[in-house]
Amino acid sequence: MTRSADRTAIPVADMTRDGLGTRPLQRTMDLAREHGPLFVRRYGERDALFACSLDLVTELADEERFAKAVGPALEHVREFAGDGLFTAYNDEPNWAKAHDILLPAFAMGSLRTYHPTMLRVARRLIASWDAALADGRPVEVAEDMTRMTLDTIGLAGFGYDFGSFGRDEEHPFVAAMVRCLAHTQGLLARRPDDGLDHPAQDAAFRADADYLAGVVDEVIDARRASGETGTDDLLGLMLQAPHRVSGETLDPANIRNQVITFLIAGHETTSGALSFALYHLLKNPAVLRRARDEVDALWGDAADPEPAFEDVGRLTYVRQVLCEALRLWPTAAVFGRTARADTELGGGRLTMRAGDTAFVLTPMLHRDPVWGDNVELFDPDRFAPEREAALPPHAFKPFGTGERACIGRQFALHEAVMLLGLLIHRYRFLDHTGYQLLIRETLTFKPEGFTLELARRTERA
Ligand code: HEM
Repeated sequence: MTRSADRTAIPVADMTRDGLGTRPLQRTMDLAREHGPLFVRRYGERDALFACSLDLVTELADEERFAKAVGPALEHVREFAGDGLFTAYNDEPNWAKAHDILLPAFAMGSLRTYHPTMLRVARRLIASWDAALADGRPVEVAEDMTRMTLDTIGLAGFGYDFGSFGRDEEHPFVAAMVRCLAHTQGLLARRPDDGLDHPAQDAAFRADADYLAGVVDEVIDARRASGETGTDDLLGLMLQAPHRVSGETLDPANIRNQVITFLIAGHETTSGALSFALYHLLKNPAVLRRARDEVDALWGDAADPEPAFEDVGRLTYVRQVLCEALRLWPTAAVFGRTARADTELGGGRLTMRAGDTAFVLTPMLHRDPVWGDNVELFDPDRFAPEREAALPPHAFKPFGTGERACIGRQFALHEAVMLLGLLIHRYRFLDHTGYQLLIRETLTFKPEGFTLELARRTERA
């Protein structure tokens, strides 16, 4: 834990008595509002240092001084994702090995090969929304976005079809994953006076983790049984590709961890980002109108547009909408940075020893004064090219930072911008419940209970 030369200068918010609740990150955002951008959140024996201002994050982003921290939350995720890329320690040889082997799967050429699959799955969602519209049913936004992103990573990355739109309920993989993530969050929030044994919860978690591993084995077995030996998707690279220097391939235990990691990291955050973007479009008619103008200029009144790969790059305003949604609600809201050597943070306000960790609370970084006076306002023009170019380098960090930043960023943006564009082009969104944003946390953020009624756009109205 972080020690300080002058600890009195750093506010300590003691949450031991009140607990962290079921929305701990939103609670922590309130603490930042109350105590300022550098504070310690105390919970029983556990102190966590949070840093949220642009200046502090700029320091923490310095790769010479800091590296990714696998904090307590990720330590728990390691129980089911092991040394997969997301949860690997920096010095674990499997991180660099897997990073090098898997990077080609995220190069521009690979994205191009995923495009038809992304479009195919986007059309599944559209078919399901058309059916809901025909029946006069509202759609459940976050649930359907999760169906879409899970099927996309399953098919594009692993050639495996979760068939989520053929099911009334979410795929059991999603249910088990959400329970595992919620369990992880619950472990962090266990009250210090709680006692140590929670055998029923822990057994249920183990059963879920085993189930996830079982699905992964199925995915791998299906590929092996197909006899395919190509390396043009993630699974192909995992199973076949040798490291460019050592010539080694990934070992079977690591492959399992990588598959589980990518199935989770590859869909959970993107679906939240899409859901928040739709929420903000619903509540901001002027923004929606501009986004419509953009998609209409591209696809006219085609009943079923056939977006080319390049079209997605042309949806610049839709991309701005998505970025602005990720500014207000970065769906992976925290990342940890650990000091490589003893160092001072915040102009000497705090001494960190080698190995000490500070957590960046990204939604508060994204409300730093650098964003202007009205940081709560949803304004995609913040990401207009000339304004985005003028932003300080570390002001916008929804994908983390440095060499451990998100490997799937372009994948997520391509998938999400294309789907948003298609939905904006096709539907009018009706706020049939007067929805008030409520955010569910299972380590990630998602709007909870968000439903939409749909109408087809007529005459481009
Ligand atoms: C890492 C966010 C989509 C795979 C990260 C990190 C963040 C993040 C913040 C860094 C975590 C840390 O420093 O502890 C997001 C968001 C996404 C998204 C907001 C969508 C909007 C994806 C997709 C994939 C993916 C689509 C895969 C197809 C990964 C992996 C890592 C990672 C494997 C670990 C990279 C490493 O440490 O080498 N992501 N992500 N993510 N992300 Fe994403």
